[in-house]
Amino acid sequence: MEHHSPAPHTDKPVRSRGRFSGRLGYVLAVAGSAVGLGNIWRFPYLAAKYGGGMFLLVYLILMLTFGYVLIVSETALGRMTRKSPVGAFQTFGKSLPFQIGGWINAVVPMLIVPYYCVIGGWVLKYLAEYLKGSCLLLAEDHYFTNFISASASVEFWFLLFSALVFFVILAGVKQGVERVSKIMMPLLVLLAVFVAVYAVTRPGAWEGIVYFLVPNFEDFSFMTVVAAMGQMFYSLSIAMGILYTYGSYIGKDVDIEKSTGQVEFFDTAIALLAGMMVIPAVFVFSGGDMETLQAGPSLAFITLPKIFASMGMGTFVGTAFFLMFFFAALTSAISLMETSISTFEDELKWSRPKCCILMCLIMLLVGSASSLGYGVWDSITIFGMAFLDFFDFLTNSVMMPVAAFSTCILIVRVVGFPRICEEVERSSAFRRKKLYQFFLKYLAPICIGIIFVSSIANVLGLISL
Ligand code: PFF
Repeated sequence: MEHHSPAPHTDKPVRSRGRFSGRLGYVLAVAGSAVGLGNIWRFPYLAAKYGGGMFLLVYLILMLTFGYVLIVSETALGRMTRKSPVGAFQTFGKSLPFQIGGWINAVVPMLIVPYYCVIGGWVLKYLAEYLKGSCLLLAEDHYFTNFISASASVEFWFLLFSALVFFVILAGVKQGVERVSKIMMPLLVLLAVFVAVYAVTRPGAWEGIVYFLVPNFEDFSFMTVVAAMGQMFYSLSIAMGILYTYGSYIGKDVDIEKSTGQVEFFDTAIALLAGMMVIPAVFVFSGGDMETLQAGPSLAFITLPKIFASMGMGTFVGTAFFLMFFFAALTSAISLMETSISTFEDELKWSRPKCCILMCLIMLLVGSASSLGYGVWDSITIFGMAFLDFFDFLTNSVMMPVAAFSTCILIVRVVGFPRICEEVERSSAFRRKKLYQFFLKYLAPICIGIIFVSSIANVLGLISL
């Protein structure tokens, strides 16, 4: 079963694939994919809820082990096969398990991108309001709940955000995805540093900084590990086909190990900055009240606008925050969309514009259900969840662990370590080869199992995440 040039397994010629121009473009595009809603609202509230500094420590350890293994694996498989996930799996076999493994990785982004664009639309609406100077309006009680139940307006902002994503996708990999990432990611860092510095220099912020950064062993619990692991998965854009696809767009000279380290650094730095913006600010605002900190998803849209309104320069800081939030959401949505379209291009052999039209239809169907699910369609629920929550649960809690598991099995049982190592070594020495093998074989399946079981237990109400 060992063969060394796996890509041309198809009888038809491989279509000309998009390409990143080099490592910088690739790293910024993957970082753009990784840094998203997950870093800016999910990370701070989970860190606040699950032990501050202790959560951070566990998160860092998991990212450098489990996260590292999955990023390297997916990227190497993408580059080796020059295919998006379905084709990559089929390169190694055509039987049902290979079909399932490939498609489950490929379908995840197709289901995520519509509801992600709905949230992107919320961000765009808030940004527009801050630009108009409506800082106090956004801080009013019930503003957010009234907004998301006003279906026509939510649908409008969802369609506008989606149109921006399509615009970039139509421009192609180098001209669109890479160019936007190269502009937006540095700007995002600047804005994040600005808001974080502003937040930590407020009087009373120190207590929040200490809670966030200093590990306290009394705060450790099993749930800290479960929450940190789920977050790491989400934040690094693992198990959603993205890294296969972006890996298929890089040259054999791009150092996979080094790029992985840089992406992890970037993603964690932004999550840390987001924590520095949010946790001390909430401490100042609420006097350290844990309930405010643990407000969860509503933190960004309800609590933060109230905090901005109570600070000096609220309109300015709010605008900077939502602009950064918008860049983060847009570059992640682009990667989800690019991956979906790449699968259609590979599997249906259609032109890029035609694949975009198909994706438009999926967006309209799934996205509109998600956007209207808190408004006119709020009576319709699936397992008691609104559409948006259901798609989020289905992808993150059920499909992604299965997708990640299928990648591990593919490498351990079919492709074999020597070929993955050979792929990584085409561009550089594989410095953490032994660790990679150990983690992939023993640690990754355990971690994936824990995520899967705990997510289901969470939905069944047996534990509370
Ligand atoms: N990693 C990105 C984020 O943290 O927002 C992108 C992403 C992750 C999108 C998980 C969707 C998702 F379910």
